[in-house]
Amino acid sequence: MLMELRENYQKGARVLIRTYGCQMNKYDSELLMGILVDNGYRLVDCERDADVILVNTCSVREHAEKRALGRLRQFVGMKSNKPGLIVGVYGCMAQRYGDEMLKEVPGIDIVAGPDSFPRILEAVRNAESSAQICTTLGDFDGEGWRPYRKTNSLSGWCAITRGCNNYCSYCIVPYVRGHERSRPLDDIIREVESAVQQGVREITLLGQNVNSYFDGEHDFADLLKAANDIEGLWRIRFATSHPKDFSDKLISAMRELPKVCEHVHLPVQAGSNRILKLMNRGYSREDYLELVDKIKDNVNGVALTTDLLTGFPTENEEDFEQTLDLMKSVKYSGAFTFKYSPRPGTKAAEMENDVPEKTKISRLEQMIKVQQESAAEFSRNLVGTTQEVMFEENSPKNPRNMRGRARNGKIVEVTGEGIKKGDVWTVKINDAQTWVLFGEKIDKLIDNRQ
Ligand code: SAH
Ligand code: SF4
Ligand code: F3S
Repeated sequence: MLMELRENYQKGARVLIRTYGCQMNKYDSELLMGILVDNGYRLVDCERDADVILVNTCSVREHAEKRALGRLRQFVGMKSNKPGLIVGVYGCMAQRYGDEMLKEVPGIDIVAGPDSFPRILEAVRNAESSAQICTTLGDFDGEGWRPYRKTNSLSGWCAITRGCNNYCSYCIVPYVRGHERSRPLDDIIREVESAVQQGVREITLLGQNVNSYFDGEHDFADLLKAANDIEGLWRIRFATSHPKDFSDKLISAMRELPKVCEHVHLPVQAGSNRILKLMNRGYSREDYLELVDKIKDNVNGVALTTDLLTGFPTENEEDFEQTLDLMKSVKYSGAFTFKYSPRPGTKAAEMENDVPEKTKISRLEQMIKVQQESAAEFSRNLVGTTQEVMFEENSPKNPRNMRGRARNGKIVEVTGEGIKKGDVWTVKINDAQTWVLFGEKIDKLIDNRQ
């Protein structure tokens, strides 16, 4: 068996990484890919071609875990036809289950927590001889770890913090990702510069709560300023913003720094003060609405998106009406809507999960309906305006058209003649569907010569 693995390795063993969960997980998968590719492994897209399969998992809702367990069992099942296949579980679920994972999915070879990427190479190489458990939540210093970059990738991610200190009562993230750690500003800037050298033009700075970034000297607004100075980088985005930590300094930075895009993902979760308190979110409905007004007043043309959670224990009709009411007053351009799912070990899991499933579904449907109306209104209001668009791909439906994103995050499509990937144009918006705007190009602002 070992011989076979060595032979595979010499040929460049083939690795498949499947990713579930949030943007941070996608970034972590890129870290894994970078480490493995640098060490002679080849990436494949299809499980049938793979010698090593790693599943990067999410624990945020029960459904996400069930899906990943199903996939893992299926991959382990493939070993009967392919002895020597290595199957590993990576990420938040691996951290939560630890060696229990071996009971859940007998035959699994690697169980590796979300901060264990520096040990992944060793784990894969050793997996032939015994199961490898490496669920570490160590300090993360980004030095030396570069995410894998696909050629032609114009947009990239960069993790600026890992973990979370907020302990929202429903959320498992602080338990599986550990306490919040900020990376030193210089490391982040170096990583973004290296991404830019590889063709990245737009970077999204990632953290569970980017607003609490602090490396001992610099806060998040300082980091934005430093990133804004990087030559060859055209756009800066960030997620996620916690409303309780959104400072006036950050609002000024958004207004003043030309590369920082006018989009804020600002999860509200619920509109009722009673529920927000039970959720331990650290702000009231009034605080949130005041912040929204301040952002809208200062950041011209800003788009706000959010996360919403319905069915939290004790949520009644009145509470829920307040969520709908808040949505109608903020008029989000987009939202992720979820049904509450109790997570073992969290504060809320000790409360009775007392909102019936049928009620949760009906409330979720109502939220989606309100959200679609406000997203459609947001788009309609952009007809007649001029937007700055960075073009990224051919339109999937009409390949002669080019698609890109406006600074506010909306997808914009125009007739593609004379436009290259990565070019930035001003575009006059003529028509709007809920999720896509249509327009005509006016002036080329940046030519993506490479
Ligand atoms: N750090 C971010 C997002 C964390 S997880 C923030 O603070 O908002 C992404 C989203 O999943 C959350 O915003 C929340 O809406 C949802 N979520 C978290 N725990 C959940 C649970 N137990 N059940 C259902 N949805 C949940
Ligand atoms: Fe979870 Fe709250 Fe932290 Fe977001 S801020 S990751 S919802 S605990
Ligand atoms: Fe992300 Fe899910 Fe973990 S949301 S941080 S992958 S629990």
